[in-house]
Amino acid sequence: MSFSSQENFSIYEIEVWRNSFSLRLLQNSFENMHQYFSGLSKPIECAETPPGAMYCDDDFYQSLHEKVFMPNYFWLGHISDFSEEKNVFPLTALPGSLNEPLVLVRNKLKEFTLMSNVCTHRAARIVSEPSQLRRLICPYHGRRWDLEGSFQFMPGFESAKDFPRECDHLINHRILNWKGLLFGKLAGPEFTPKLRLLFEIMDFFPLEEIMAQKEAPVTEYTIPVNWALYCENYLEGFHIPFVHPGLNEALDISEYPVETADRVILQTGIADKNTGCFDLPEGHRDFGKRVGAYYFFLFPGLMLNFYPWGLSVNEVLPVSVKSTVIRYSTYLLPGLVKSGSAGAALEQVEFEDQAVVQKVQDSIGSRFYPGGRYSPKHEKGVYYFHQFLADCFN
Ligand code: FES
Ligand SMILES: [Fe+2]
Repeated sequence: MSFSSQENFSIYEIEVWRNSFSLRLLQNSFENMHQYFSGLSKPIECAETPPGAMYCDDDFYQSLHEKVFMPNYFWLGHISDFSEEKNVFPLTALPGSLNEPLVLVRNKLKEFTLMSNVCTHRAARIVSEPSQLRRLICPYHGRRWDLEGSFQFMPGFESAKDFPRECDHLINHRILNWKGLLFGKLAGPEFTPKLRLLFEIMDFFPLEEIMAQKEAPVTEYTIPVNWALYCENYLEGFHIPFVHPGLNEALDISEYPVETADRVILQTGIADKNTGCFDLPEGHRDFGKRVGAYYFFLFPGLMLNFYPWGLSVNEVLPVSVKSTVIRYSTYLLPGLVKSGSAGAALEQVEFEDQAVVQKVQDSIGSRFYPGGRYSPKHEKGVYYFHQFLADCFN
């Protein structure tokens, strides 16, 4: 059917055609999504990685926002990041992709609430800097809420009917505070995915005591790569002997266990004899082992790297299909420094990773790369990551 022939059809017929056309488009995009993951419905020994086209597909990238980023955890910070002198802190969820304006509120009991920072009148940003407040007041026309987001007052609306409505309160979002680590989530059921693996393994670690490193607590890198390529590289230690000669000396790569539960992937770095390791308490499941680092990946793009000296948080912040910001935040235990352990030369390792991932980005769109296979021994983490991604579209 050509557009010029449409005048011969009734309105009803055009409507039917339009509907079937949009249905076809929907079906096509649905089939395309699944096409990317068709090699994943098998055990790792037979599975195939997604094709290179997935990493260059702008429509697929856009669909990740609702399907992948909204219903999973993102990093809000450590409690020590939020000054005791203030109680209200504006934040942005996944700057560069979701860009969702939020406000974090700490009450007198030191409990946190995470809310929308967008006025329910005409969408002005309500809080623009960390403040000490008794209520929230929109700077545009003066709408007010209490510190839990309940609507209180709006000038000029005395004769408005059916007001305030439920949607005039500020939406409260999911927030999880575990030992001072704060995570947010904008959609999906409460308390899922559970983070049991993280809770079980790191319960011994005094996370409430860590503090942001004094010098350069946060570092950001913008790299011209697809976010998923960066995550995949993080999720395997296979490349360590080839790409990170320094790190290779600090870790015993013959042992590099990878496990998963609840959309969390854990890689355990076993330290060699000369490298610092955790003092694990009796009763810990790894008691007696020389663990130099626990690398936790919280799907889709949050990396919590625990070392004997503290915690390094890497947030993977997608900006476009071919651009990603990596934000590093470093927290130290009191009196400790980053030395003599697997995480001491983080910057060097980061640059080596960025360089190799950029090489992959340059060739991932090749017409002659249909996708690859997984090493069952070394690439379980990458396989799990792709499984979680596929799961979001099923
Ligand atoms: S936009 Fe907030 S009161 Fe009008
Ligand atoms: Fe690496």
